[in-house]
Amino acid sequence: MKSLVAYYSRTNITKKLAERIASETDSDIEEIKPKVNYQGKIGYARGGKDAISEKIIDLEELKYDPAEYDIVYIGTPVWAGKSSSPVFSYLKQNEGKFNNVKFFTTFGGRGFESTFEQMEANSKKPLKTLALKTKEVKNDEFNLDSFID
Ligand SMILES: Cc1cc2nc3c(=O)[nH]c(=O)nc-3n(C[C@H](O)[C@H](O)[C@H](O)COP(=O)(O)O)c2cc1C
Repeated sequence: MKSLVAYYSRTNITKKLAERIASETDSDIEEIKPKVNYQGKIGYARGGKDAISEKIIDLEELKYDPAEYDIVYIGTPVWAGKSSSPVFSYLKQNEGKFNNVKFFTTFGGRGFESTFEQMEANSKKPLKTLALKTKEVKNDEFNLDSFID
């Protein structure tokens, strides 16, 4: 089965998880790169605002076409109880192109359920989901077995 891991990460937490999933599933990996700057304090505020308003932003050119994969693992940090605007934009940009999806997210304390709901509403029902706290990813307190099964 051909698989792709597509993710956005602002502070490398979701990136760590994405890289682990990719290596354990032998997947290609796509880092979603926004043309908008979300770094720093101003970027944080902009990120919250863009996530809440479900703003569609421009992304750097993608390396891989999700339509060519049996399954795409899509990963995002939780932003204001939603997906990050780069991932939301990725879903919109690739509407109708996903064969199967699984979602993963990292979050500080709350909001992953609504994040998954929003992602499903804008792509399709995921085969599986995985939500991990920032702290759990940092401390390697996770196991991917049932998620990648
Ligand atoms: C704009 C913004 C909004 C956030 N909103 C939430 C939230 O609603 N709930 C939560 O638990 N964490 C929230 N966080 C924290 C991130 O989800 C968390 O730190 C995540 O692990 C960061 O992943 P990353 O390093 O891949 O960007 C927010 C972070 C940012 C930048």
